[in-house]
Parts: sequence; C-alpha cells; structure tokens
Amino acid sequence: MGAYAEYLCMPENGVAALKPASMTFEEASAVPYGAITALSVLRKANLQPGQKILVNGASGGIGPAVVQLARFHFGAIVTGVCGTPRLEYVKSLGAEKVLDYTQKDFVDSGESYDCIVDILGKSSLARCKRSLRPKGRYLYVSFKMKQVFQMLRTSLGGGRKVICIVSNEKAEDLVLIKDLIEAGKIKTIIDRCYPLEQAADAHRYVEQGHKKGSVVIIIGRPDESL
Ligand SMILES: NC(=O)c1ccc[n+]([C@@H]2O[C@H](COP(=O)([O-])OP(=O)(O)OC[C@H]3O[C@@H](n4cnc5c(N)ncnc54)[C@H](OP(=O)(O)O)[C@@H]3O)[C@@H](O)[C@H]2O)c1
Repeated sequence: MGAYAEYLCMPENGVAALKPASMTFEEASAVPYGAITALSVLRKANLQPGQKILVNGASGGIGPAVVQLARFHFGAIVTGVCGTPRLEYVKSLGAEKVLDYTQKDFVDSGESYDCIVDILGKSSLARCKRSLRPKGRYLYVSFKMKQVFQMLRTSLGGGRKVICIVSNEKAEDLVLIKDLIEAGKIKTIIDRCYPLEQAADAHRYVEQGHKKGSVVIIIGRPDESL
C-alpha cells in the first residue's frame, strides 16, 4: 500500500502537523499510522464515556493507540487482548484488564462490551454474541468482502452492528493527536528501528505479527538512532 522514500511531495493543505516537542523523530514517525486509524475506529464506534470496549490485538501498531485514546480521550473502560509477553505493556497503556489469547478465548470471560475492536479479524460477530451487548458494535480493522456484507446487513436493524473501518486521514486529527501527546495522554512505543537498507528484515519481523508497538525505518542517519 505504499513505499519508502527520502522525500515526499504533498499539497500545502495535506495531512501534516508539527512534531510533538516531547518526542524524537522516530517516535513521532510512528504516530500517524496507529493514532489516526484508532481515532477513525473510536469515532465510528460512537464510543461514550463509561462504555466498555475490548481491543482484540492491543499490543501492535494500532491497538495501543486504540487503548490509550479509548481510556484517556473517550473516557471508556478498556480491556486489551494480546499474547503473554505483552500483557504488562498493554496494562501500562491504560487497559483496566488484559486477557491472554494464548490461554483463553475472551468470549469465555463472562464479560460483555459495548464495542469490540478486532484489529486482525481473528474473531467474529458470530463468536462474540454473548460478549457483545444487544446494541453493541463489532469493529473490524482488517476485513474482507464477507465482513462488508455483514456491515450492510446489520446496518438495517436496531441490534448489534458490524462496522468495517477505513482510516480517515485529516490534518486537524493529526493536530489533535499532537496535543494529546504533549498533554501526556498518548505515548508511542518503538519496538525496533531498522536502516532503509534492512527494510526487508523490518518487514519480515513485522509480518510475524507480534511486535510491541511500532517498527521504524530510518533514512540517512545510519547509526545514531539505532
Ligand atoms: N482499516 C484501516 O484503515 C487500516 C489501516 C491500517 C492498517 N490496517 C490493518 O491493520 C492490520 C495491522 O494492525 P497492526 O499494525 O496493529 O498489527 P500488528 O502490529 O501486527 O499487531 C497485531 C496484534 O494482534 C495480536 N494478535 C496476534 N494474533 C492474535 C490472535 N490469534 N488473537 C488475538 N490477537 C492476536 C498481537 O498480539 P501479540 O503480539 O501480543 O501476540 C498484536 O497485538 C493489518 O491487517 C492492516 O491491513 C487497517
């Protein structure tokens, strides 16, 4: 869906904001991907203060931003689902509860939620009927045509809804994210940095699906930031 380049030409009114003063360039470069997608998710979910949300896939590139924004910007009660080594990390981001998908399916926890955000599409509305409240929203960040048809079908009734997310990039949202970072409400965690020459290794690592936070490609500053 893209490429790496040293220079990018963009319109004057393109999606850009000043770098948060408190962040390194590497940290700031990882912000838009997770945070802008997370904002799109939570707005589409119409998440209200005090509502309960579960994030299935809370420890990667997008999940941590969903956890932090849901808790500290939308005022929701957050449960994060991830693998064993990243449970403490997701808790440190503001999740009230963390569940380990390698130990137990979250649908068996006995809890129910107003929103379930499925980052990799590892579960489904059919599996989650007991875990999703009657007017709950099931949000797919990764989806295929089957889920799009489910979205169309469930949009007609008054019950549980499937929503497929397409990230909506706007400059004012990037400015909002910058302000939230400077207010200490969102942080970004870098798992690893790779020089451009090792972009293939970076992709191999990301494609394992278990990074903790973001992986950053660095152009032109070989050693100082690694
Ligand atoms: N809709 C949009 O606009 C949009 C925008 C950008 C990206 N995307 C999509 O988002 C996806 C990538 O998201 P990401 O960058 O956050 O991925 P990621 O960094 O690879 O993170 C994957 C997350 O899923 C968890 N996970 C892995 N296997 C799981 C399982 N069986 N059950 C539950 N959780 C599991 C991982 O936990 P552990 O690491 O702890 O095991 C981790 O928290 C891609 O499919 C991409 O196409 C969509």
